[in-house]
Amino acid sequence: MPQNQARWADKRILFVSGKGGVGKSLVAAAIAQEQARAGRKVLLVEIGDTSYYKDFWGLPAVSHEPIPLKQGFDLALWSGESCLREYVLHYLKLEKLYHLFFENKVMRSLINVAPGLNEIAILGKITSGIRRVGPPLNYDLIVVDSYATGHAMALLQAPKGMMEAIKFGPMGHHSREMEAVVQNPKLTGYIVVTLLEEMPVVETLEFNEQLKREMGVEADVVGNKFIEEPASLEDLDKMSQQNTGGLGDFAKYLKSIGERQAEFLGKLKSLSKNVSVVPLIFSNDPSQLVAGAEEALRQA
Ligand SMILES: Nc1ncnc2c1ncn2[C@@H]1O[C@H](COP(=O)(O)OP(=O)(O)O)[C@@H](O)[C@H]1O
Ligand SMILES: [Mg+2]
Repeated sequence: MPQNQARWADKRILFVSGKGGVGKSLVAAAIAQEQARAGRKVLLVEIGDTSYYKDFWGLPAVSHEPIPLKQGFDLALWSGESCLREYVLHYLKLEKLYHLFFENKVMRSLINVAPGLNEIAILGKITSGIRRVGPPLNYDLIVVDSYATGHAMALLQAPKGMMEAIKFGPMGHHSREMEAVVQNPKLTGYIVVTLLEEMPVVETLEFNEQLKREMGVEADVVGNKFIEEPASLEDLDKMSQQNTGGLGDFAKYLKSIGERQAEFLGKLKSLSKNVSVVPLIFSNDPSQLVAGAEEALRQA
């Protein structure tokens, strides 16, 4: 069995994070597709208020309730509000509180500024299947197209904040259970996507440090948009020395890209045991992009 498949085959939840724009959504979709192809029942989850995949795949709508995609997995969009509504109604069984929350403008705005409330609701939903609470969530794997690194940390640490605020009662109890799920490497995996460039690599190193320190877990790393060189660095070096003018300069330029990529890959490998590379794919077609990333992850 390929290494990656073996690596993620036992996980029930995978959080995909990274700096903004590095390719989180593409990598999350590729992992969902790869795991679905391996025979698992997979749910790809977007968090927040707007769907990226709706336009990406030209879907009519993406909502809180999962919809099946022709790609072989389901897709859902979970916002703080949609998850909180479910929590209040089904877990706490507080119909009165529900009306107070959602039919009152002041309460609604309060929910959106209360620190950690949206996050705890979303994390509660993501972990609810494993914790066997709430409406059934029968998936072998949930792949979360998560927030960018800073906000992702807030999401993962929301239970800690809640436990400090409320030590007893169902909310404190649920928070403890959520934390146990996201800190259990047998259940939950973390994938950080990065470009092989200075800023996102630095952010990746910092995020991994934080994950280790605050949660005691380690992340796998995906180096995205790797530029495949047309020749080895050695040959490019020869070319740059043997050719004066344009061709020599271009070979030098390609060599410098290759060297920088290798340098950043080296940094990432010194930090994580599991570093995979996804090449820059020359296509605008969503299915080709996802298939290309899936292929790369499967071979890694
Ligand atoms: N390996 C790749 N090759 C080509 N294009 C890519 C690759 N990875 C991501 N992209 C494109 O780059 C853009 C940003 O990727 P996206 O997954 O939306 O990033 P994020 O979710 O981190 O913001 C998108 O247009 C996506 O299709
Ligand atoms: Mg995205």
